[in-house]
Amino acid sequence: MHFRVSPNALRDARVNVPGDKSVSHRSLMLGSIAEGRTHVSGFLAGEDCLATAAAMRSLGVSIDQPGPTEMMIDGVGRHGLRPPEGDLDLGNSGTAMRLMAGLLSGQPFSSVLTGDASLNSRPMGRIIKPLTAMGAALESDCDGTPPLQVTGGLRLRGIHYDMPVASAQVKSAVLLAGLYADGITSVVEPAVTRDHTERMLRTMGVTVTTSAGTISMAGGQTLNGCEVRVPADLSSATFIILGALISQDADVLIENVGVNPTRTGVINILQAMGADISLVNPQLLGEEPVADIRVRASRLRGGAVDPALVSLAIDEFPALFVAAAAAKGVTTFTGIGELRVKESDRIAAMAKGMRQLGIRVDESDDGAVVHGGQFKGGEVDSFHDHRVAMSFAMAATIAADDVLIRDVENVDTSFPGFRDCVAGIGADIEV
Ligand code: S3P
Repeated sequence: MHFRVSPNALRDARVNVPGDKSVSHRSLMLGSIAEGRTHVSGFLAGEDCLATAAAMRSLGVSIDQPGPTEMMIDGVGRHGLRPPEGDLDLGNSGTAMRLMAGLLSGQPFSSVLTGDASLNSRPMGRIIKPLTAMGAALESDCDGTPPLQVTGGLRLRGIHYDMPVASAQVKSAVLLAGLYADGITSVVEPAVTRDHTERMLRTMGVTVTTSAGTISMAGGQTLNGCEVRVPADLSSATFIILGALISQDADVLIENVGVNPTRTGVINILQAMGADISLVNPQLLGEEPVADIRVRASRLRGGAVDPALVSLAIDEFPALFVAAAAAKGVTTFTGIGELRVKESDRIAAMAKGMRQLGIRVDESDDGAVVHGGQFKGGEVDSFHDHRVAMSFAMAATIAADDVLIRDVENVDTSFPGFRDCVAGIGADIEV
């Protein structure tokens, strides 16, 4: 499946984007091991989260989907999961695999986690190391990639873990195992990462403290089922924000978007580039802050992107590369080496496609320099990466000619309905 996009900039609109992927995954996992029922609204029914739902069902949890974006989870309690029949297939989702590995390390039964070709080539050593230090036993392929065999029935102990990489997935895996461990589990972050796990644990009655970059929690605590209202996903909203910013004169309002401060790096980076973005109607959905995001077409300018914002915008760099190409001057990204181990090597994927569309990009191991210019028409590969595909779709709205974006199936992992959403606000996009 490919997208063909003909140049046609976005227009004034009011838009809704699907629910937050990170919060949706966590609602399923935490709701499953809670006591009682968890009702989730605004759930992201994308392939990644549906893979997590299927995995939790295989572990004996009853999960109904009463509406397109609603989930009803009958929690089985911390000790109620059952051995799965076969391997748990988590599709394209790194979040599902890493968090599930933490959760399953604390179970009395063994399990095997696997995924698609992309997921089965992503590094798992980063979770195997701390989980092993807690007393768990996980085996990967010899190069540290899935499938992962998780041995059950082992006694876990809390650890104090200094994370070498800023990763919410690693932090969450350790905390989920920590729920089953003796004593205190704490994780020190080298840079702040998304804190949805901590917030949802608190909503469910677990005491988790965050102080000076250290997150701590005592094992053995009970989770209580609750109501989860999932905000719209800022990472999905980013593509609309990008399209509006680089358009001729669009004025777009995206409603009810999660603006948790551990996620809003993209807004700060774009504002530093001259973007006209404002947050209106701020509210709290449970523990998660949301707002409507108003974006107006802006003349962007290049510059050095603050590396301190990288972990707060980690999924938004493909879109930021496109913003940089549309900006006047040169934009320098540093400290983004983690992009090389996402759903694709996102530095290489974006650099290659942007060059094919006439933009100069100089790549380094953990950075890139993007020279502002004019996108021309052509053909690019998404490398089966949803965010690469959507970033190029938005770039194409301002290209000089048609752009074909190859292999866009995975857009459904995070943004089902993307084509209709952007077509509805002016993009000329066909599947
Ligand atoms: C996620 C954390 C991030 C992000 C991913 C979702 C999460 O990964 O890239 O899309 O839900 O915890 P890392 O924390 O490993 O950077």
